[in-house]
Amino acid sequence: MPDPHPAFVAPHPWLIEQIAFDRIAHERIAREETWFHVLAAASFVESLADLYTHNLLDYMEGDAEASQWLRERWEPEELQHGRALRRYVETVWPAFDWQAAFDGFCMDYRPYCKAELLEPTRALEMVARCVVETGTSGLYGLLQQISPEPVLATLVGHIRNDEVGHYKYFYHAFLRYRERERPSRWQVARVIRQRLGEIGQEDAYLALKNAHAVRHPGQTFSPRDFQRFQHTAGHWARAHYPYEMTVKMLVKPLRLPGLVNRMALPLLVRHARRVVAP
Ligand SMILES: [Fe+2]
Ligand SMILES: [Fe+2]
Repeated sequence: MPDPHPAFVAPHPWLIEQIAFDRIAHERIAREETWFHVLAAASFVESLADLYTHNLLDYMEGDAEASQWLRERWEPEELQHGRALRRYVETVWPAFDWQAAFDGFCMDYRPYCKAELLEPTRALEMVARCVVETGTSGLYGLLQQISPEPVLATLVGHIRNDEVGHYKYFYHAFLRYRERERPSRWQVARVIRQRLGEIGQEDAYLALKNAHAVRHPGQTFSPRDFQRFQHTAGHWARAHYPYEMTVKMLVKPLRLPGLVNRMALPLLVRHARRVVAP
């Protein structure tokens, strides 16, 4: 009997065992404090995937296809992102107590990750997921472009491709629920706007704060530290952020007519540049 969902349960495109952690060019990255913080923070957020998956699995109960994909593709891939980034961080910065920092992050972050933060309908929740996956695709796409170290470039390239795959599945699920629920374009736009405003707020802040606390015991992570970090990130993004891809992914669920889409894209890309890296 043919597999009913072959595209969603195909073998994982890469495995952590294939990453050459023993060939990392340490001298290219070990002194890069911003990279340490970005990678540690990303490893924390990814490692929390089991929490997000269970929220979403409950929410999608009864949808066999989505449940299967979430369990067999999404969760293992997100957890592998967390494990691979953790291993990279621990290999390059062996003195860093990853577990202690992650535990601190979990304590701080769990209150923000509740089921009631899900959208009122499944179509709209799928839009919200598309926004999140657009954000991660853009982030890892940027990191891949600017990585000073080749093994890291390979690793974040794999992660970026997975995130684009996640977007594609959520978009596919959005189309299915859109048929049934018929959300208006305004409702979809509202979710996109709202979720965009949330990207990288409390999770990024709390992840950076906990990475910093364990790396620099006794020092507090002040709003000024966070601002300095944002400044560097803005500098990176100015030249290398994949604006066009990001904007295309973001507006896709609006399903704008072709002409409107073509006219709006350049404006939105320009706007996105100002927002991401003012
Ligand atoms: Fe991920
Ligand atoms: Fe993802």
